[in-house]
Amino acid sequence: AVLVGRRVQNRRKWRRAVEVLREFEEGCATSIGRLGQVVDAMAVEMHAGLASDGGSKLKMLLTFIDNLPDGNAKGTYYALDLGGTNFRVLRVRLGGKGSMIISHQVEYHPIPQELMSGTSEDLFDYIAMTLKQFVERADDGSEQKADEKKELGFTFSFPVRQMSVSSGILVKWTKGFSVEDAVGKDIAQCLEEAMTKAGLNMQVAALVNDIVGTLALCHYYDKDTVAAVIIGTGTNACYVERTDAIIKCQGLLKNSGGTVVNMEWGNFWSSHLPRTSYDIALDDESPNSNDQGFEKMISGMYLGEITRRVLYRMAQESDIFGDGAYNLSIRFILRTPSMAAMHEDDSPDLREVRRILTETLQVPHVSLRARRLIVRVCDIVTRRAARLAAAGIVGILKKIGRDGSGVASGRAKGTPRRTVVAIEGALYVNYSMFREYLNEAVVEILGEEAAQNVVLRVSEDGSGIGAALLAAAHSSNR
Ligand code: GLC
Repeated sequence: AVLVGRRVQNRRKWRRAVEVLREFEEGCATSIGRLGQVVDAMAVEMHAGLASDGGSKLKMLLTFIDNLPDGNAKGTYYALDLGGTNFRVLRVRLGGKGSMIISHQVEYHPIPQELMSGTSEDLFDYIAMTLKQFVERADDGSEQKADEKKELGFTFSFPVRQMSVSSGILVKWTKGFSVEDAVGKDIAQCLEEAMTKAGLNMQVAALVNDIVGTLALCHYYDKDTVAAVIIGTGTNACYVERTDAIIKCQGLLKNSGGTVVNMEWGNFWSSHLPRTSYDIALDDESPNSNDQGFEKMISGMYLGEITRRVLYRMAQESDIFGDGAYNLSIRFILRTPSMAAMHEDDSPDLREVRRILTETLQVPHVSLRARRLIVRVCDIVTRRAARLAAAGIVGILKKIGRDGSGVASGRAKGTPRRTVVAIEGALYVNYSMFREYLNEAVVEILGEEAAQNVVLRVSEDGSGIGAALLAAAHSSNR
């Protein structure tokens, strides 16, 4: 009788765990119909954001970049890329017409946690000092005289309202940064002051978002590039818009034909997005609740955490993970790279899942059957994220008349143009399941025929090298 009782209990706990999974899966559903609604909503919000400031949750920020770099610039330029858990400093040598990028050196530096929520002075002093040391180490004296003013492309990957190509005010922080006194300040000026203090003779020639660097680098190699997408710690997109379509700025921009718009699509919102109770709780407990809704369903900062929340719920409802599941209650303990490694574990006994559970989460003794359930949760989270990002991409293509429907551009059907979208960020570049789901969904939404004209092209390191190219294009030494 005891044995039968245990079996019944066992079955019951599994039923509860599977119910949690099913409910979550339904909540995350991204049927083709729903993705179509997201595509339309993205295109509509883009129009609204271009019509007036505050017209949409999509900020559609101007970059003042109306000329993507060609291969003609020559000389040595620096770049600084701030926006994730690391920042990077780069030195890029350009050879001028024909020879393009001769060489580039890169260094990565972690940002001490306390600087992410301290004062802007401390943050910029630290960055300027690190940059100065890099310049001294990298300077081989070959081209630039020591006292010559150096030119910097500053990639600052947060929403910035630009006043010019080399100046702009921070609108708000995202991705866990909260250096509050920097909000409302000119970020280029903050850095320049710190560089002067550090004794570094350098000026910001271009202040750009990482997504704009990605577009610039990809366009440098492939002139059919019209848009760029990043899916890393955060997520964002930019594209080349017709100047006359930017209604909110008429008169302000020279009518150059096209200009790059930083969408800040991480903040996109639509009631068509498949949102679950886990997303709502994650948002409520975040430092920027009601903000960056799209980003919180898609980017690397959050996917592991959504997964953890579902697993924790399962652990609360049943004891399928044994009694050591306490750590699942700790926020952000499951990072997206670990989640991706569990998802991609193809060993028959899910060895990698067991290793991560034991070593990272300290949840030992999880049965194979329960480990399989965990992989299912990872799959649901990633599939939804990748498919939503795909819908976002098609939304942009629709807005600019490159989705094959021929409506927005007024072009007749049957006159396809090759369209390249640059992609950067660890989720797409390093997480093959994510990449496959995204690629597959783009084809599913566009249809095989139209999809043939759309190329998603990885633009690695674009956010850094692209910024150096933009610095060269806007340099006063030119
Ligand atoms: C966040 C930032 C955005 C950046 C993106 C990717 O969404 O707000 O500016 O481009 O992350 O780093």
